[in-house]
Amino acid sequence: MTRNISEENTQEIRDSSDRVLIFDTTLRDGEQSPGASMSLEEKLQIAETLDAMSVDVIEAGFPIASNGDFEAVQEVSKLVKKATVCGLSRAGAKDIDRAAEALKPAENMRIHTFISTSPVHMKHKLQMEPEAVLEAVAFSVDHARGYTDDVEWSAEDATRTDRDFLCQCVEVAIKAGATTINIPDTVGYTLPQEYIEIITMLKDRVPNIDQVVLSTHCHNDLGLAVANSLAGIQAGVRQVECTINGLGERAGNAALEEIVMALNVRSDLMPQWTQIETTHLARASKLVSNVTAFPVQYNKAIVGKNAFAHESGIHQDGMLKNNQTYEIMLPETVGINKSSLVMGKHSGRHAFREKITALGYSLSDNQIQDAFQRFKDLADRKKHVFDDDIVALIDDEVAHSNDRIKVMSLQVVAGTKGPQKAELELEIDGEIQRAESTGDGPVDATFNAIKELIPAKARLHLYQVHAVTQGTDAQAEVSVRLEEDGKTVTGRGIDTDTLVASAKAYVSALNKLSVKRLRQAPDDIAALQI
Ligand code: KIV
Ligand code: ZN
Repeated sequence: MTRNISEENTQEIRDSSDRVLIFDTTLRDGEQSPGASMSLEEKLQIAETLDAMSVDVIEAGFPIASNGDFEAVQEVSKLVKKATVCGLSRAGAKDIDRAAEALKPAENMRIHTFISTSPVHMKHKLQMEPEAVLEAVAFSVDHARGYTDDVEWSAEDATRTDRDFLCQCVEVAIKAGATTINIPDTVGYTLPQEYIEIITMLKDRVPNIDQVVLSTHCHNDLGLAVANSLAGIQAGVRQVECTINGLGERAGNAALEEIVMALNVRSDLMPQWTQIETTHLARASKLVSNVTAFPVQYNKAIVGKNAFAHESGIHQDGMLKNNQTYEIMLPETVGINKSSLVMGKHSGRHAFREKITALGYSLSDNQIQDAFQRFKDLADRKKHVFDDDIVALIDDEVAHSNDRIKVMSLQVVAGTKGPQKAELELEIDGEIQRAESTGDGPVDATFNAIKELIPAKARLHLYQVHAVTQGTDAQAEVSVRLEEDGKTVTGRGIDTDTLVASAKAYVSALNKLSVKRLRQAPDDIAALQI
């Protein structure tokens, strides 16, 4: 197909001045979305995935914000092999010191310091005069440079900042030693043409601006985050800050997969390129969606379920004749394997191992053994096992391998003649415990039975069911979000029985809450008081 030929050609003629760095902030700005909080293990899983797809910078958190954020930045710093690991800080010394401390184990570290520069933010949020903001810019960048040569400075709310003042701030930041200058559209307010003008103005007016990397950080309040980021690239920006699935504050950030594929597919018009391995995009999207329980909309560009589906007869006919009629990129390029009918109960261990390698997993022998057993159980109950089934099953296996509480059995009485009733067996720290309960419907009865065994003050914020594949024998994928003392956790459960999946999801969330407790109060582990 022409697009792939053009891709190969551009590989040869790629100019290093056109290289665009991908700065992923799924773990920082993404996690700031209400309800999108992630456990440490989940953050590490995402960081590993981002590193494997060759993102240039991973913003792992905001270390001063909480001990959890500090630990996440520290652990990501230990784990990540290729990417630069970045920690966010405000302009004060304490913030910067804390970020530097968390980033110490990183092979390559970056401190990202920011302050608001728009009139509305300076007056109402910071309550600082512009002169004081300028001093803070100089101080923060200089202080961060005491720890590393890689310092990014951001003008929060840059697109609503007075242009002369923005130029002054950027000049001061460069003088103080910033190596990357980020121009965020914090409230998703700008339009592509205006953003081009801002970047062009900075390039024309600020001394030594050619010595630093210019960066975009666009929010999606008007649905323009990707368009504005691409406009920024056209104006000369060479770093894009973005998130998987466009996760982020309010309407989110620019979606990584959309920016990367726009550059990839339209290399005829935009010579700028990234080093992202695009075949990892679908998998990363699924992982972030699973962890946060934020579903990916069906018609989402690049990674939505329907992104490569063709329903109308005319389209299907065109596709049969030549797939370029209705597809501008190959699904395989973004990691979607369309021929996904895979295996059944006669498939052997060897084929299973090959399949999970092809799906992008590298598991230990024990994990493969457990996953294979679960695959066999599933194949006994379900006629066709699809790639999506296997992905769901392995993600579930990896997520729950260290759980202290496990669902062992569940019997539910449901239907029109109430009361609905649940009989449940849990294994709690190796000991089997049983409970029975009624409720307003089978899910309520199941959750009540769990609460009998594990009294919780946690409140249920989300209960969500998805079918992993099509058909009435599809596996159900249930997400449960619980909140306790201002902390939220999201648990997931998979099973062909929706009620069993629901019980597993609730128990998974309780496991995560108990881990959070242990991290907060390591000496207080005796009681499994969830
Ligand atoms: O949106 C924003 O301005 C930010 C900064 C901290 C970069 O997230
Ligand atoms: Zn942001």
